[in-house]
Amino acid sequence: MKRIMILSGAGLSAESGIRTFRDHDGLWENHDVMKVCSTQGWIADRQYVTRFYNDRRCDLEFKEPNHAHKILAQLEHDYRGRVIHLTQNIDNLMEKAGAKDVIHLHGTLTDLRCEACTQTFYFGYAPQEGNEHCPHCGNKRGPHNVVMFGEAAPEYSHIHQAVRQSTLFIAIGTSGAVIDIVPIAKEFIHSILIDPKRQETASKFDPRSYIDEYFEHFIQKKAGVAMDDMMAIIKEHMGDRI
Ligand code: APR
Repeated sequence: MKRIMILSGAGLSAESGIRTFRDHDGLWENHDVMKVCSTQGWIADRQYVTRFYNDRRCDLEFKEPNHAHKILAQLEHDYRGRVIHLTQNIDNLMEKAGAKDVIHLHGTLTDLRCEACTQTFYFGYAPQEGNEHCPHCGNKRGPHNVVMFGEAAPEYSHIHQAVRQSTLFIAIGTSGAVIDIVPIAKEFIHSILIDPKRQETASKFDPRSYIDEYFEHFIQKKAGVAMDDMMAIIKEHMGDRI
């Protein structure tokens, strides 16, 4: 069966006004990524990190899905069960666009994760006051639900499964700096890279390499304007004549 694997990154949400990580010299909303997205940073200053995610959460409430989110949500609906969308994004813009089955590899901003029983629970957009109780075990300490550098990322197990089950790989708006997309692309005959910039990546094979050469199609456009080209390739691949 023809099946589509999508791996999306911060570039998918850039046109919704959510800044990417590596287009701004490694600053995430003017913060050093390792101060707000690493276990060391969390241990060093929980309040600072909590304030950072409170700001991101409050900001997200007023962000809207862009055209690419909406097309991808429609794609999930139209090809129910034949699209596996893995995102590195912690925003909920795919869900705001109507998607139901997106796998968040790096966590979700609108949930908290209990430090005692490790279960997650919906929290919404409000700032954390520090007195939130876990609804599962009652424990008082429920930090953000964002996977930090230095932590395990249990959802990554879905990546290998998606590679095995899929026939078309689409990378949208990701530099490949954390999840190297070159080895994934090499597993596929059919693949699409959507990124407005030719991307150098810290590839294990050749640090100076351009990743687009590993993809069958390279749509060098912003996600929001790449959708028509992407859909034409998808319809061809899935056997739906345009
Ligand atoms: N449309 C498509 N791609 C875009 C757009 C756009 N409008 N704007 C920027 N891009 C591309 C950039 O050229 C870049 O290749 O999106 C990519 C964003 O790369 P990063 O900022 O590195 O984001 P991402 O790949 O998602 O980072 C992965 O790193 O910091 C960690 O956990 C964090 O999930 C994040 C991970």
